[in-house]
Amino acid sequence: MNKYAVIGNPVDHSLSPTIHAQFAKQIGLSMSYKKILAPLDGFSVAAKNFISSGALGFNITVPFKVEAYDLIDEYTLNAKTAGAVNTIKVENGTLYGENTDGIGLVNDLCNNLQQSIKGKDILILGAGGATQGILLPLLECQPERILVANRTKTKSLKLANNFSEYGKVCGFGLDQIKAKPVDIIINATSASLDGKMPEIAPGVAAGALCYDLMYGKQTPFMQWARENSALAVTDGLGMLVEQAASAFAFWHGKTPETKEVLKSLRETTD
Ligand code: ATR
Repeated sequence: MNKYAVIGNPVDHSLSPTIHAQFAKQIGLSMSYKKILAPLDGFSVAAKNFISSGALGFNITVPFKVEAYDLIDEYTLNAKTAGAVNTIKVENGTLYGENTDGIGLVNDLCNNLQQSIKGKDILILGAGGATQGILLPLLECQPERILVANRTKTKSLKLANNFSEYGKVCGFGLDQIKAKPVDIIINATSASLDGKMPEIAPGVAAGALCYDLMYGKQTPFMQWARENSALAVTDGLGMLVEQAASAFAFWHGKTPETKEVLKSLRETTD
C-alpha cells in the first residue's frame, strides 16, 4: 500500500486525509493517508519511524514545518525561501522537501476566486512563518508591490529585505498602515487563533479582497473586513485544498481537480 500521512500537533482536526482520499479516487490510486500526532519534542522521531515503515511521503503541519526543513536532502526553491517544509517525498532513501502553502494561496486567488495578482497592491499582515511561506509565489505573480506590516516592525523589515531580489516588497509596522486602500489584504498573523484582529486603520479594507489564511466561518479579521466595506471576504479553505493538490502533484506527478473537493468541504464545514 502507498503510505502517506500528515504529522502535526494537534492533528485531529486535519482535513488532509479527506482531501487526499478524494484526490486519489479521481485517478484510481490506492493509497493510505493517516494522521500522526507527534509529541511537541518528538517530530523527528515520529517522521523517521514513519519513513522506516515504508512511507512514500507526508505532509507536515503546525508546529513542525521549520523542524521538518532540517530533515531534508533536496529542497525546492519554495521550501528554501520559506525556510519551512510542508511536503516531503521519499524516493530511494532521499528526502525531497517542498512548501506548497504559497502555491496553494496563489492558485486559490487566481483559479477559484478569479483574481489576478499582476499589477496589484497587496498588504500582508504579519511577518512570521506563514508570511515567509507565501512571499515567493506571490512575488512571482508580479504584483505592483507587497507591503508586509507587522506588530514587531524589525521582523517585517528583515523579511522584506530577504525577499527584495524577487520583487518589490516593503516592510512596515502595523501602526504605519494608514487608510490608503489596497487591492488585496492577506491576514497571515496568528491573531485569529486568540480571537483577535491585528490593529490597523479600518479604511484600508475599503474595496479590497480580504483573505484570511485561517479557515473558518467568521474569523475576527473577516468580521473586521465585512464591517469596513471590503469588496470580498474569504477564509483559507481554498488555500488548504490547493496546497494539498500541489502536494499530491509533487508525490504522484498528477494535478487533481479541486473545485468539487472544495465545494464538498465547504458544505460540511459551514
Ligand atoms: P506563523 O508560523 O503562524 O506565522 P509565527 O511565526 O509565530 O506564526 O508568527 C505569528 C505572526 O502573527 C507574527 O507576525 C506576530 O506578530 P509579532 O511578530 O509582532 O509577534 C503576529 N501576531 C500574533 N498575534 C498578533 C496580534 N494580536 N496582533 C498583531 N499581530 C499578531
